[in-house]
Amino acid sequence: MTLPVPTESPPPAEGDNAPARAAEIQLAPAPEAAAARAEPGTGPLTLRGITFAPARFCAPMAGLTHSAFRRLVADFGGHGALFTEMICGRWLLREDANRSPALKRRPEEGRVIYQLMLTAPEEVAPAVERLADCRPDGLDLNCACPAPKIRQRGAGSELFTDRPRLEGILRALRREWPGVLTVKIRLGRPEPSWRTILGDRLRLFADCGVDAVTLHPRFADEKLKRRARHEVFPELLAETRLPLIASGDLHGPEGVRRQAAALAGVAGIMVGRLAVVRPWIFRAWSDPDFFPEPVAVWERFVRYVREDFPEPKAFLQARVLVTYLARNFRFGHRLFALAQGARAWAELVERVGEFLENGPERLQEPDLSGLA
Ligand SMILES: Cc1cc2nc3c(=O)[nH]c(=O)nc-3n(C[C@H](O)[C@H](O)[C@H](O)COP(=O)(O)O)c2cc1C
Repeated sequence: MTLPVPTESPPPAEGDNAPARAAEIQLAPAPEAAAARAEPGTGPLTLRGITFAPARFCAPMAGLTHSAFRRLVADFGGHGALFTEMICGRWLLREDANRSPALKRRPEEGRVIYQLMLTAPEEVAPAVERLADCRPDGLDLNCACPAPKIRQRGAGSELFTDRPRLEGILRALRREWPGVLTVKIRLGRPEPSWRTILGDRLRLFADCGVDAVTLHPRFADEKLKRRARHEVFPELLAETRLPLIASGDLHGPEGVRRQAAALAGVAGIMVGRLAVVRPWIFRAWSDPDFFPEPVAVWERFVRYVREDFPEPKAFLQARVLVTYLARNFRFGHRLFALAQGARAWAELVERVGEFLENGPERLQEPDLSGLA
């Protein structure tokens, strides 16, 4: 099995459209027998005495996985834990953890892991202290975010490349936070040494007392339209004792089954965009015919968002959800256009409600392309 990576510096700005300057890196093939094992994500994952069952996780998604959304997903159940959106350590200190729409945590959400965006060890203690009120089921360090704004600050996927600073932050986290500690990463920079660096970081994580790692197997600069390279998992699993959670293009049970050989042995499955398109996806995992009345889902979300956000922000949040929800329908582009054309809250709620009440034709498998 081969994994192509660019041989030189990171790809140019066009990213995914850039011509491939690829070297072929050899990887051990996924073991044949592996596919026969239990579907990954089905069993429980226990870390530091906390059980996540099943080991299916709703991904951290900036601007999306606030409390109102997590509440909606949790209403349907079937998840092991929900990740918050990425929370900046400094911003956190200015927020009221019990009122902030991103930070507040309701008992009905079930297990919630708070994802932190940190740039220096000094940020750790105040952030952990501030989050105490939320009683996180785990803290996750973002070492994956490719957004230029975040990388310029030395966080996200940039932190992954800066070993001393990364180690300082991890050791501070482990000192200040006695609970579950996870890290979310990508493959690193697309350079010939990516694999050596990745192996080194996994050893560093284990050495620093990290409990599990989520790997979204794309290189730091790759957009979501490039495929996730799950074929890296068997080799990584063979060399680390850390539980690895897989993220990227794992769109429901079918998506996981298609990758069964590569994913055999991963400790959990993380779902991102599909969970926004279908907030009921975790429930539908074990109940494939489950598809709630879309208008009821919409009305519920509208209520939750309105409870947490003042009107101008509530409007934007609800409109973003429609972008995703629309992917469930054959003529979803019409729903999208209706929402985009709405100028105010009441108009948005009414237009979307009307479209959904008319029983739009549903798609078996929604197309997620272009969602980011
Ligand atoms: C809108 C959006 C926001 C995201 N924000 C974050 C984030 O804050 N932290 C993070 O670690 N990953 C973030 N991601 C990446 C997801 O967690 C996930 O790894 C990625 O979408 C691939 O999974 P999927 O194919 O299931 O969507 C984001 C993805 C999207 C689409």
